[in-house]
Amino acid sequence: MAEVTHSTSTPVVELVGVNKHFGELHVLRDIDLTVSKGEVLVVVGPSGSGKSTMCRAINRLEPIDSGTIRVDGVPLPEEGRPLARLRSDVGMVFQSFNLFAHRSVLDNVTLGPVKVRKVKKAEAKDEAMELLSRVGVQDQADKLPAQLSGGQQQRVAIARALAMHPKVMLFDEPTSALDPEMVGEVLDVMVSLARDGMTMVVVTHEMGFARKAGDRVVFMADGQLVEQATPDEFFTHPQSTRAQDFLSKILSH
Ligand SMILES: Nc1ncnc2c1ncn2[C@@H]1O[C@H](COP(=O)(O)OP(=O)(O)O)[C@@H](O)[C@H]1O
Ligand SMILES: [Mg+2]
Repeated sequence: MAEVTHSTSTPVVELVGVNKHFGELHVLRDIDLTVSKGEVLVVVGPSGSGKSTMCRAINRLEPIDSGTIRVDGVPLPEEGRPLARLRSDVGMVFQSFNLFAHRSVLDNVTLGPVKVRKVKKAEAKDEAMELLSRVGVQDQADKLPAQLSGGQQQRVAIARALAMHPKVMLFDEPTSALDPEMVGEVLDVMVSLARDGMTMVVVTHEMGFARKAGDRVVFMADGQLVEQATPDEFFTHPQSTRAQDFLSKILSH
């Protein structure tokens, strides 16, 4: 996973001096962050620290006030067709699965490639079936999302994002809305993606995942990146008081 070329290759995602406010609230403060090709970056931090906003900014679902965000070396376009293309380079999986409720599982996976990437329907269907079997839900292709369990729906959401051939996948607390017995099946899919070399930014407090698949952990608090380390270093020897305090809370449960 960790490539020797990390330091010399173009970062897949690059944030330089990124700031964002919601009214009075300074939600992202001078964020500098790079994610290298094939890297799995785990983002942790207390609720309200700006993790979701940062993910949404990378996909330009949230505009920023200042600074630069580049994906594969290209600054985020303002709008229109270049923005749609950029969005397809950045796959996003949210806490709530966000599937199209009135379309079949198969349609959910083929719609993006057919509409945005102009892939032929038959071809999109073949690839969708491959992706659905990769995430283990090929038998559910003709069902509606509501007929699936939460874990299955989240795996469909991952397949749907992969169908766009993204350069990076963003996961925003992908398992936190799931019943406990379904967390493992989603994390397993994410671990296998990581092993296949996918570049990933993962907001999660699942320490097992971080240790198994993460190359680096960044700790975010009050809109700032406070500290970063390898998963092992971070979870065993957090440096800042904020991180120590945060870990003592999540570990005491
Ligand atoms: N659309 C919005 N308008 C106003 N405030 C927002 C909006 N989205 C998020 N916030 C606020 O920004 C802060 C960071 O939120 P968020 O990025 O969701 O944090 P996290 O994902 O770390 O919990 C929170 O205080 C939240 O209430
Ligand atoms: Mg969040």
